[in-house]
Amino acid sequence: MQSKVGTIGVLTSGGDAPGMNAAIRAVVRTAIAKGLKVKGIKKGYLGLLNEEIIDMERKDVSDIIQRGGTILGTARCMEFMTPEGQQKGAEICRRHGIDGVVVIGGDGSYQGAQKLASLGINTVGLPGTIDLDIACTDYTIGFDTAVNTAMEAIDKVKDTSSSHERCSIIEVMGRNAGYIALWCGVANGAEDILLPEKYDFNEQAIVNHIIANRKQGKTHHLIINAEGIGHSTSMARRIEAATGIETRATILGYMQRGGSPTCKDRYYASMMGSYAVDILAAGKSNRVVAHRHGEFVDYDIEEALSMQKNIDEYQYNVARIL
Ligand code: ADP
Ligand code: F6P
Repeated sequence: MQSKVGTIGVLTSGGDAPGMNAAIRAVVRTAIAKGLKVKGIKKGYLGLLNEEIIDMERKDVSDIIQRGGTILGTARCMEFMTPEGQQKGAEICRRHGIDGVVVIGGDGSYQGAQKLASLGINTVGLPGTIDLDIACTDYTIGFDTAVNTAMEAIDKVKDTSSSHERCSIIEVMGRNAGYIALWCGVANGAEDILLPEKYDFNEQAIVNHIIANRKQGKTHHLIINAEGIGHSTSMARRIEAATGIETRATILGYMQRGGSPTCKDRYYASMMGSYAVDILAAGKSNRVVAHRHGEFVDYDIEEALSMQKNIDEYQYNVARIL
Protein backbone atom coordinates (compact mmCIF):
# COMPACT_ATOMS: atom_id res chain seq x y z
CA MET A 1 0.00 0.00 0.00
CA GLN A 2 1.22 3.50 -0.87
CA SER A 3 2.36 5.38 2.29
CA LYS A 4 0.40 8.53 3.11
CA VAL A 5 3.57 10.27 4.33
CA GLY A 6 6.98 10.60 2.68
CA THR A 7 9.25 11.95 5.40
CA ILE A 8 8.86 11.32 9.11
CA GLY A 9 10.35 13.58 11.76
CA VAL A 10 10.99 12.23 15.24
CA LEU A 11 11.49 14.24 18.42
CA THR A 12 11.68 13.67 22.18
CA SER A 13 10.09 16.28 24.43
CA GLY A 14 9.62 17.04 28.14
CA GLY A 15 11.52 14.97 30.74
CA ASP A 16 13.69 12.23 29.23
CA ALA A 17 12.99 8.57 29.99
CA PRO A 18 15.01 5.36 29.56
CA GLY A 19 13.74 3.59 26.46
CA MET A 20 13.33 6.73 24.36
CA ASN A 21 16.36 5.63 22.30
CA ALA A 22 14.74 2.28 21.58
CA ALA A 23 11.66 4.13 20.31
CA ILE A 24 13.76 6.47 18.11
CA ARG A 25 15.61 3.46 16.68
CA ALA A 26 12.34 1.68 15.87
CA VAL A 27 10.89 4.79 14.21
CA VAL A 28 13.99 5.23 12.04
CA ARG A 29 14.32 1.59 11.01
CA THR A 30 10.62 0.93 10.43
CA ALA A 31 10.29 4.08 8.33
CA ILE A 32 13.35 3.17 6.22
CA ALA A 33 12.01 -0.37 5.77
CA LYS A 34 8.87 1.19 4.31
CA GLY A 35 10.92 3.32 1.90
CA LEU A 36 10.33 6.56 3.84
CA LYS A 37 12.85 9.22 4.80
CA VAL A 38 13.49 10.07 8.46
CA LYS A 39 14.68 13.28 10.05
CA GLY A 40 15.69 13.64 13.68
CA ILE A 41 14.51 16.84 15.33
CA LYS A 42 16.85 17.72 18.19
CA LYS A 43 15.77 19.10 21.61
CA GLY A 44 12.02 18.73 21.17
CA TYR A 45 9.92 21.64 19.96
CA LEU A 46 12.78 24.01 20.81
CA GLY A 47 15.02 22.28 18.26
CA LEU A 48 12.17 22.31 15.74
CA LEU A 49 11.85 26.09 16.04
CA ASN A 50 15.65 26.43 15.83
CA GLU A 51 15.69 24.09 12.81
CA GLU A 52 18.05 21.62 14.47
CA ILE A 53 17.03 18.91 12.05
CA ILE A 54 19.24 16.06 10.86
CA ASP A 55 18.86 13.25 8.32
CA MET A 56 18.78 9.82 9.91
CA GLU A 57 19.84 6.52 8.41
CA ARG A 58 19.76 2.96 9.80
CA LYS A 59 23.35 3.21 11.02
CA ASP A 60 22.64 6.42 12.96
CA VAL A 61 20.63 4.43 15.48
CA SER A 62 23.12 1.59 15.88
CA ASP A 63 24.28 0.83 19.40
CA ILE A 64 21.74 3.10 21.14
CA ILE A 65 19.04 0.69 22.35
CA GLN A 66 20.91 0.05 25.61
CA ARG A 67 21.61 3.71 26.34
CA GLY A 68 19.63 5.84 28.79
CA GLY A 69 18.51 9.39 27.97
CA THR A 70 17.71 10.38 24.40
CA ILE A 71 20.25 10.75 21.61
CA LEU A 72 18.12 13.55 20.15
CA GLY A 73 18.13 15.57 23.36
CA THR A 74 15.00 17.02 24.91
CA ALA A 75 13.76 20.38 26.10
CA ARG A 76 10.80 22.37 27.25
CA CYS A 77 9.83 25.20 24.89
CA MET A 78 7.59 28.11 25.87
CA GLU A 79 7.56 29.59 22.35
CA PHE A 80 5.83 26.50 21.03
CA MET A 81 2.93 27.14 23.43
CA THR A 82 2.02 30.22 21.36
CA PRO A 83 0.02 30.12 18.06
CA GLU A 84 2.91 31.95 16.34
CA GLY A 85 5.39 29.33 17.56
CA GLN A 86 3.15 26.51 16.37
CA GLN A 87 2.70 28.14 12.92
CA LYS A 88 6.46 28.56 12.66
CA GLY A 89 6.96 24.89 13.64
CA ALA A 90 4.51 23.69 10.97
CA GLU A 91 6.20 25.87 8.32
CA ILE A 92 9.63 24.53 9.27
CA CYS A 93 8.31 20.97 8.93
CA ARG A 94 6.96 21.77 5.46
CA ARG A 95 10.23 23.43 4.45
CA HIS A 96 12.13 20.27 5.42
CA GLY A 97 9.60 18.05 3.65
CA ILE A 98 8.42 16.55 6.94
CA ASP A 99 4.78 15.50 6.59
CA GLY A 100 4.57 13.22 9.64
CA VAL A 101 6.02 13.67 13.14
CA VAL A 102 6.44 11.14 15.96
CA VAL A 103 6.45 12.99 19.29
CA ILE A 104 7.83 11.02 22.22
CA GLY A 105 6.83 12.65 25.51
CA GLY A 106 4.02 13.22 27.97
CA ASP A 107 0.64 14.96 28.01
CA GLY A 108 2.18 18.40 27.43
CA SER A 109 4.05 17.17 24.36
CA TYR A 110 0.82 15.62 23.03
CA GLN A 111 -0.81 19.04 23.15
CA GLY A 112 1.98 20.36 20.96
CA ALA A 113 1.42 17.41 18.59
CA GLN A 114 -2.28 18.23 18.49
CA LYS A 115 -1.47 21.81 17.44
CA LEU A 116 0.86 20.61 14.66
CA ALA A 117 -1.83 18.20 13.43
CA SER A 118 -4.36 21.03 13.25
CA LEU A 119 -1.86 22.89 11.04
CA GLY A 120 -1.64 20.04 8.54
CA ILE A 121 1.36 18.05 9.82
CA ASN A 122 0.37 14.46 10.65
CA THR A 123 1.39 13.57 14.19
CA VAL A 124 1.51 10.55 16.48
CA GLY A 125 2.48 10.68 20.16
CA LEU A 126 4.30 7.97 22.12
CA PRO A 127 4.04 7.86 25.94
CA GLY A 128 7.54 8.73 27.15
CA THR A 129 7.66 9.42 30.87
CA ILE A 130 8.91 7.65 33.99
CA ASP A 131 5.82 8.86 35.87
CA LEU A 132 3.22 6.43 34.35
CA ASP A 133 0.79 9.33 34.55
CA ILE A 134 -0.70 9.16 31.04
CA ALA A 135 -4.33 8.17 31.41
CA CYS A 136 -4.89 6.32 28.13
CA THR A 137 -2.11 3.76 28.65
CA ASP A 138 -1.17 1.10 31.21
CA TYR A 139 2.49 1.43 30.16
CA THR A 140 4.76 4.43 29.63
CA ILE A 141 8.31 4.27 28.27
CA GLY A 142 10.78 4.54 31.17
CA PHE A 143 8.60 3.63 34.14
CA ASP A 144 9.89 0.07 34.38
CA THR A 145 13.53 1.18 34.40
CA ALA A 146 12.83 3.98 36.87
CA VAL A 147 11.10 1.73 39.42
CA ASN A 148 13.85 -0.87 39.14
CA THR A 149 16.54 1.79 39.62
CA ALA A 150 14.68 3.27 42.59
CA MET A 151 14.00 -0.17 44.09
CA GLU A 152 17.69 -1.08 44.06
CA ALA A 153 18.67 2.24 45.62
CA ILE A 154 16.00 1.91 48.32
CA ASP A 155 17.21 -1.62 49.22
CA LYS A 156 20.63 -0.10 49.90
CA VAL A 157 19.27 2.68 52.09
CA LYS A 158 17.17 0.11 53.95
CA ASP A 159 20.30 -1.93 54.81
CA THR A 160 22.05 0.92 56.53
CA SER A 161 18.83 2.14 58.09
CA SER A 162 18.30 -1.27 59.74
CA SER A 163 21.90 -1.41 61.01
CA HIS A 164 21.46 1.95 62.73
CA GLU A 165 17.88 1.26 63.82
CA ARG A 166 16.77 4.41 62.04
CA CYS A 167 13.61 5.47 60.35
CA SER A 168 14.06 6.34 56.66
CA ILE A 169 11.96 8.57 54.47
CA ILE A 170 12.81 8.05 50.81
CA GLU A 171 11.36 10.43 48.27
CA VAL A 172 10.78 9.17 44.75
CA MET A 173 9.84 11.04 41.57
CA GLY A 174 6.49 11.04 39.80
CA ARG A 175 5.42 14.69 39.64
CA ASN A 176 1.80 14.65 40.91
CA ALA A 177 1.35 10.91 40.47
CA GLY A 178 2.13 8.20 43.02
CA TYR A 179 2.83 5.22 40.74
CA ILE A 180 6.59 5.08 41.34
CA ALA A 181 5.97 5.40 45.10
CA LEU A 182 3.31 2.68 45.08
CA TRP A 183 5.40 0.20 43.10
CA CYS A 184 8.55 0.82 45.15
CA GLY A 185 6.56 0.80 48.37
CA VAL A 186 5.35 -2.72 47.63
CA ALA A 187 8.60 -3.96 46.07
CA ASN A 188 10.78 -2.61 48.90
CA GLY A 189 8.45 -3.70 51.69
CA ALA A 190 7.88 -0.19 53.02
CA GLU A 191 6.09 0.32 56.32
CA ASP A 192 4.32 3.44 55.00
CA ILE A 193 3.66 4.58 51.42
CA LEU A 194 2.61 8.19 50.94
CA LEU A 195 0.84 8.89 47.64
CA PRO A 196 -0.37 12.34 46.54
CA GLU A 197 -3.67 10.77 45.44
CA LYS A 198 -4.33 9.34 48.92
CA TYR A 199 -2.31 11.16 51.58
CA ASP A 200 -4.38 12.78 54.34
CA PHE A 201 -1.46 14.64 55.99
CA ASN A 202 -2.06 12.74 59.23
CA GLU A 203 1.55 12.65 60.43
CA GLN A 204 0.47 11.52 63.89
CA ALA A 205 -0.73 8.23 62.35
CA ILE A 206 2.79 7.68 60.93
CA VAL A 207 4.36 8.51 64.30
CA ASN A 208 2.04 6.02 66.05
CA HIS A 209 2.87 3.37 63.44
CA ILE A 210 6.63 3.84 63.95
CA ILE A 211 6.32 3.62 67.76
CA ALA A 212 4.08 0.52 67.57
CA ASN A 213 6.49 -1.24 65.18
CA ARG A 214 9.50 -0.39 67.35
CA LYS A 215 7.73 -1.86 70.39
CA GLN A 216 7.32 -5.07 68.41
CA GLY A 217 11.06 -5.17 67.76
CA LYS A 218 11.30 -3.84 64.18
CA THR A 219 14.71 -2.30 63.63
CA HIS A 220 13.79 -0.19 60.64
CA HIS A 221 10.84 1.85 59.46
CA LEU A 222 10.82 2.66 55.78
CA ILE A 223 8.55 5.39 54.46
CA ILE A 224 8.29 5.90 50.70
CA ASN A 225 7.19 9.44 50.03
CA ALA A 226 6.11 10.65 46.59
CA GLU A 227 7.52 13.83 45.07
CA GLY A 228 3.97 15.16 44.79
CA ILE A 229 3.87 15.33 48.61
CA GLY A 230 7.53 16.27 49.02
CA HIS A 231 8.97 18.01 52.12
CA SER A 232 10.75 14.80 53.18
CA THR A 233 13.52 16.61 55.08
CA SER A 234 11.19 18.62 57.30
CA MET A 235 8.97 15.56 57.73
CA ALA A 236 12.01 13.61 58.96
CA ARG A 237 12.81 16.34 61.48
CA ARG A 238 9.26 16.34 62.88
CA ILE A 239 9.06 12.54 63.01
CA GLU A 240 12.40 12.31 64.84
CA ALA A 241 11.21 14.90 67.39
CA ALA A 242 7.91 13.08 67.93
CA THR A 243 9.28 9.52 68.13
CA GLY A 244 12.76 10.02 69.57
CA ILE A 245 13.99 7.69 66.79
CA GLU A 246 16.72 8.94 64.46
CA THR A 247 15.08 9.69 61.13
CA ARG A 248 16.82 10.47 57.83
CA ALA A 249 15.44 11.68 54.51
CA THR A 250 16.87 10.60 51.15
CA ILE A 251 15.66 12.23 47.97
CA LEU A 252 16.52 9.91 45.09
CA GLY A 253 16.14 12.57 42.39
CA TYR A 254 17.39 12.36 38.81
CA MET A 255 19.17 9.03 39.14
CA GLN A 256 15.68 7.57 38.61
CA ARG A 257 15.48 9.06 35.12
CA GLY A 258 18.82 7.79 33.87
CA GLY A 259 20.50 4.48 33.21
CA SER A 260 20.25 1.64 30.76
CA PRO A 261 16.62 0.69 30.03
CA THR A 262 15.23 -2.63 31.20
CA CYS A 263 14.26 -5.31 28.71
CA LYS A 264 10.60 -4.34 29.06
CA ASP A 265 11.31 -0.68 28.25
CA ARG A 266 13.48 -1.61 25.26
CA TYR A 267 10.87 -4.05 23.95
CA TYR A 268 7.70 -1.98 24.44
CA ALA A 269 9.37 1.22 23.22
CA SER A 270 10.51 -0.66 20.09
CA MET A 271 6.99 -1.93 19.41
CA MET A 272 5.49 1.50 19.98
CA GLY A 273 8.01 3.21 17.69
CA SER A 274 7.16 0.82 14.87
CA TYR A 275 3.43 1.13 15.56
CA ALA A 276 3.66 4.94 15.29
CA VAL A 277 5.26 4.69 11.84
CA ASP A 278 2.69 2.11 10.72
CA ILE A 279 -0.25 4.36 11.55
CA LEU A 280 1.38 7.48 10.08
CA ALA A 281 2.04 5.55 6.86
CA ALA A 282 -1.60 4.43 6.88
CA GLY A 283 -2.67 8.08 6.90
CA LYS A 284 -3.66 8.48 10.56
CA SER A 285 -2.90 11.72 12.40
CA ASN A 286 -3.51 13.33 15.80
CA ARG A 287 -3.14 9.94 17.52
CA VAL A 288 -1.44 8.59 20.63
CA VAL A 289 -0.07 5.05 20.88
CA ALA A 290 -0.98 3.21 24.08
CA HIS A 291 -0.71 -0.23 25.64
CA ARG A 292 -4.00 -1.23 27.17
CA HIS A 293 -5.39 -4.55 28.37
CA GLY A 294 -2.36 -6.31 26.86
CA GLU A 295 -2.60 -4.76 23.39
CA PHE A 296 -0.98 -1.91 21.47
CA VAL A 297 -3.72 0.50 20.44
CA ASP A 298 -4.09 4.15 19.42
CA TYR A 299 -6.42 6.95 20.45
CA ASP A 300 -7.33 10.38 19.19
CA ILE A 301 -5.18 12.88 21.16
CA GLU A 302 -8.28 14.81 22.30
CA GLU A 303 -9.84 11.63 23.64
CA ALA A 304 -6.56 10.54 25.28
CA LEU A 305 -6.15 13.89 27.03
CA SER A 306 -9.71 13.80 28.37
CA MET A 307 -9.22 10.40 30.04
CA GLN A 308 -8.70 10.11 33.81
CA LYS A 309 -6.41 7.72 35.61
CA ASN A 310 -6.33 6.89 39.28
CA ILE A 311 -4.42 4.65 41.63
CA ASP A 312 -6.17 1.28 41.53
CA GLU A 313 -8.07 0.75 44.82
CA TYR A 314 -7.34 -2.97 44.97
CA GLN A 315 -3.60 -2.46 44.49
CA TYR A 316 -3.57 0.35 47.04
CA ASN A 317 -5.33 -1.82 49.62
CA VAL A 318 -2.91 -4.68 49.03
CA ALA A 319 -0.02 -2.26 49.56
CA ARG A 320 -1.55 -1.19 52.89
CA ILE A 321 -2.03 -4.79 54.07
CA LEU A 322 1.50 -5.85 53.17
P1 ADP B 1 5.50 16.39 29.09
O1 ADP B 1 5.40 16.20 27.64
O2 ADP B 1 6.44 15.45 29.75
O3 ADP B 1 4.14 16.45 29.76
P2 ADP B 1 5.71 19.29 29.33
O4 ADP B 1 4.36 19.46 29.93
O5 ADP B 1 6.84 20.06 29.93
O6 ADP B 1 6.22 17.79 29.35
O7 ADP B 1 5.59 19.64 27.78
C1 ADP B 1 6.70 19.55 26.92
C2 ADP B 1 6.63 20.61 25.86
O8 ADP B 1 5.45 20.42 25.07
C3 ADP B 1 6.48 22.05 26.37
O9 ADP B 1 7.71 22.61 26.76
C4 ADP B 1 5.93 22.73 25.15
O10 ADP B 1 6.94 23.01 24.20
C5 ADP B 1 4.99 21.67 24.58
N1 ADP B 1 3.62 21.94 25.05
C6 ADP B 1 3.11 21.70 26.26
N2 ADP B 1 1.84 22.11 26.36
C7 ADP B 1 1.54 22.64 25.16
C8 ADP B 1 0.37 23.27 24.61
N3 ADP B 1 -0.73 23.43 25.31
N4 ADP B 1 0.44 23.69 23.34
C9 ADP B 1 1.55 23.55 22.60
N5 ADP B 1 2.69 22.97 23.06
C10 ADP B 1 2.68 22.52 24.32
O1 F6P C 1 8.18 13.79 34.29
C1 F6P C 1 9.35 13.19 34.73
C2 F6P C 1 9.91 13.95 35.90
O2 F6P C 1 11.15 13.37 36.26
C3 F6P C 1 8.99 14.06 37.11
O3 F6P C 1 9.01 12.87 37.89
C4 F6P C 1 9.55 15.27 37.79
O4 F6P C 1 8.54 15.91 38.57
C5 F6P C 1 9.96 16.14 36.65
O5 F6P C 1 10.15 15.30 35.53
C6 F6P C 1 11.22 16.93 36.89
O6 F6P C 1 11.43 17.75 35.79
P1 F6P C 1 12.74 18.63 35.53
O7 F6P C 1 13.63 17.83 34.65
O8 F6P C 1 12.21 19.83 34.82
O9 F6P C 1 13.34 18.94 36.86
